[in-house]
Amino acid sequence: MDKTNEVLGNDGDITRLHTETGKAWDEASGQYTRELDAAVAKLEAGIANLMEPEIGHLTRLLSSGGDVLHVQCAGGTDTLSLLLVGASTVTGTDISPNMLAVAEEKAARLNLDAEWVLADTARLPESLHNRFDIVYTGRGALNWMMDINIWARNVCACVRPGGHLFVFEGHPLDWVWDETAPTLQIHPEYGGYFDTNVASDTEWPTSYIDADMEPVAGWSKKHERQWTLGEVVTAVAQQGMIIEVLSEHPEYYWPAHTLLPWHEMKKLPHTYVLIARKPGE
Ligand SMILES: C[S@@+](CC[C@H](N)C(=O)[O-])C[C@H]1O[C@@H](n2cnc3c(N)ncnc32)[C@H](O)[C@@H]1O
Repeated sequence: MDKTNEVLGNDGDITRLHTETGKAWDEASGQYTRELDAAVAKLEAGIANLMEPEIGHLTRLLSSGGDVLHVQCAGGTDTLSLLLVGASTVTGTDISPNMLAVAEEKAARLNLDAEWVLADTARLPESLHNRFDIVYTGRGALNWMMDINIWARNVCACVRPGGHLFVFEGHPLDWVWDETAPTLQIHPEYGGYFDTNVASDTEWPTSYIDADMEPVAGWSKKHERQWTLGEVVTAVAQQGMIIEVLSEHPEYYWPAHTLLPWHEMKKLPHTYVLIARKPGE
């Protein structure tokens, strides 16, 4: 992975990098198409694709229903899962048209109502502002954002007064470790928690994207960077949100450390839950 040290001087730079990343995800969406049948079967069986650290909070917040926006919804499996834990309506946004096509087909096959909106998270349309009881995001969403304050402004704008922003995301400490090592070791090149570099590449890890999707020359570059827990929480608080929950968990949503046994993995946080309420009503 190159460390490009992309200089982000203005909104134009952010749009350019987000657009390239979106194109890369569009090209990689085949994995989500291949998983379509399995995802439909799971949802049909009433199994929500949500994880232990988040599901209790979501069920509680949606005990009387609610309108939920899932930002960076990819193929929509998690979006539709939110209907299984109490959401009255779900809306998903993503920058990749192919991802949204997969989401749309999933909802159609399940005969579920959902709205899908093509949008860069850095420029969520005003039609979504102040509309949602929960704005839900995470599991590999924030790392594609080139400016955490712009992210916070956009996602918080969509929460209605009295509603919640709900983030279930990979823990930034995970960026520090060498994923290929058999023991916990700091990554020799990328092992800095406070690293602000933008890492750009065209590759897809086979553990995440299907093994038959080999890196192909000419694929679009995707750009990602880490945000510390402090940066994320501060950005949300500065939008006037009230932080209600910040919890860290050993559970992981992505099997990055394939060689580490669970008794080692669980010594460290791999995910976090952040719940923040918008004042009012
Ligand atoms: C790892 S996936 C998120 C998966 C998601 N947690 C789920 O429901 O499975 C990352 C998603 O973010 C989307 N994405 C990346 N950059 C984006 C941006 N700037 N605006 C909107 N979506 C973006 C990608 O298209 C992709 O669908």
